[in-house]
Amino acid sequence: MGIVSILKNGLRRKPGPGSAASPNGDPRALKAVNVAMVDALMGALPHDEAMAVAIGGDWDFGGKVQTALLKHYGLPSDGFLIDVGCGAGRLAKTLSEQHQGGYLGIDLVPALVNNARRITPRADWRFEVIDHIGIPAPDARADMVCFFSVMTHLLHEQSYWYLEEAHRVLKTGGRVVLSFLEFQEPWHFEHVFKPTVAAAKSGSTAPLNVFLDRAAIALWANDIGFDVVEFRGGGDEVTPAGNLGQALCVLEKR
Ligand SMILES: C[S@@+](CC[C@H](N)C(=O)[O-])C[C@H]1O[C@@H](n2cnc3c(N)ncnc32)[C@H](O)[C@@H]1O
Repeated sequence: MGIVSILKNGLRRKPGPGSAASPNGDPRALKAVNVAMVDALMGALPHDEAMAVAIGGDWDFGGKVQTALLKHYGLPSDGFLIDVGCGAGRLAKTLSEQHQGGYLGIDLVPALVNNARRITPRADWRFEVIDHIGIPAPDARADMVCFFSVMTHLLHEQSYWYLEEAHRVLKTGGRVVLSFLEFQEPWHFEHVFKPTVAAAKSGSTAPLNVFLDRAAIALWANDIGFDVVEFRGGGDEVTPAGNLGQALCVLEKR
């Protein structure tokens, strides 16, 4: 199966409980579908290329933009960051060159976490493989929790659950920075949603592409105990480093 085909259509397996073909609320399925995608890429591409494609490409640019956004939204230079869905480490690597504070990166896929750990020159930073939803950190530990291109692949229930977790691990006044896909953004609708519909029709078992809506995020946030700091569109240049292409939401723990 070619790379373009893997990315567009994913892998086809017989549906069944816990298989990669049912990436719903089943913890085994959520992990399996992500691991299967990375395994397929690693089988088809040189290691570094597989790592870059697995997290959506734009390796150097993405790491720089994410780092600039976290600083822009107030990550203190000695603050503690939790990077949910840290992937292959593009944020960790760039941030490690300019951040004195602590870091915890978590992800479902062992190969990605291993890569992130390998390329990040900070022995004091922690990388952990998790199995479903949850942040392995004590209450009120973090200054910021980020989700870059993560809620784009989760069910709404799972994203809400992760926001509850973020609220638990954040200090009062701590912030969430999350990126998301939205229908009101024409590029997201044309170039992500419509191909996702086509992939669904063809029986794809690739990780889900899930859209969120600002009103829903604001409602969840208020319910959990966050204030909305701001929403930004996918094309907005929030910092001179450029934009991620995804919409952004910043929340602050009350
Ligand atoms: C598109 S990649 C983005 C990776 C990274 N945030 C970046 O921007 O380079 C999405 C990542 O989220 C991870 N992921 C998906 N579901 C997750 C979950 N429930 N908990 C933690 N990580 C998850 C995937 O394994 C993948 O590494």
